[in-house]
Amino acid sequence: MIKITYHGHSAFEIGSGDYNILVDPFFSGNKHAKAKPSDIEAGFIILTHAHEDHVGDTIEIAKRNNSQVIATNELAIYLSSKGCNAHGMNIGGSRNFPFGKVRLTIAHHSSSLGGAYMGEPAGVIISIGGKNIYHAGDTSLFLDMKLIGEMHSIDAAILPIGDNYTMGIDDAVKAVEFLNCKIAIPVHFGTFPVIDTDPDEFKRKVESIGRKCVVIPFGGSIDL
Ligand code: NI
Ligand code: MN
Repeated sequence: MIKITYHGHSAFEIGSGDYNILVDPFFSGNKHAKAKPSDIEAGFIILTHAHEDHVGDTIEIAKRNNSQVIATNELAIYLSSKGCNAHGMNIGGSRNFPFGKVRLTIAHHSSSLGGAYMGEPAGVIISIGGKNIYHAGDTSLFLDMKLIGEMHSIDAAILPIGDNYTMGIDDAVKAVEFLNCKIAIPVHFGTFPVIDTDPDEFKRKVESIGRKCVVIPFGGSIDL
């Protein structure tokens, strides 16, 4: 069984029993995060892109846990220069890690840290314990989500719904249709006033097309 814990914004913890993997660990400055970075134990940290609300507390957590950080190449080089054990990948590439497989997908967005260019943003498909979890990162809707859904049986799709910087609700509902995912999980809403959309509206709209949506409460978990 795979346990997925939502820390608000785009921050997730994926636990298999043997391994704990963090995705986009933004705790400091994330008003929905109930955990502190110092509470978190993780052997691996996966980053979708370099924006501050995604890299978050990576350096602190990675150094304390000696976590391996998996990120797009430019961001991995930067994190290595800050003393992290970082592994660089790029779009379309897959690699096996001790916990399972990571595949980076396209995402239409930008990626910079402190104004410095940090390569391309990505989405990620994490295959662990027989489940495929797609974390879209920050992205617009794109038609290749159909291809992602054709090539992978997506058990859970983690999709931004906050609009302004990413897909809004209606585009994310279309993404659910394209991905043909078993469940959709909305993220990237409500953290800042500019992304204050309603996850329950997303859930209603996803259900209206015959699909399943789970709104995970902040700090809450589901079993996949
Ligand atoms: Ni971003
Ligand atoms: Mn973001």
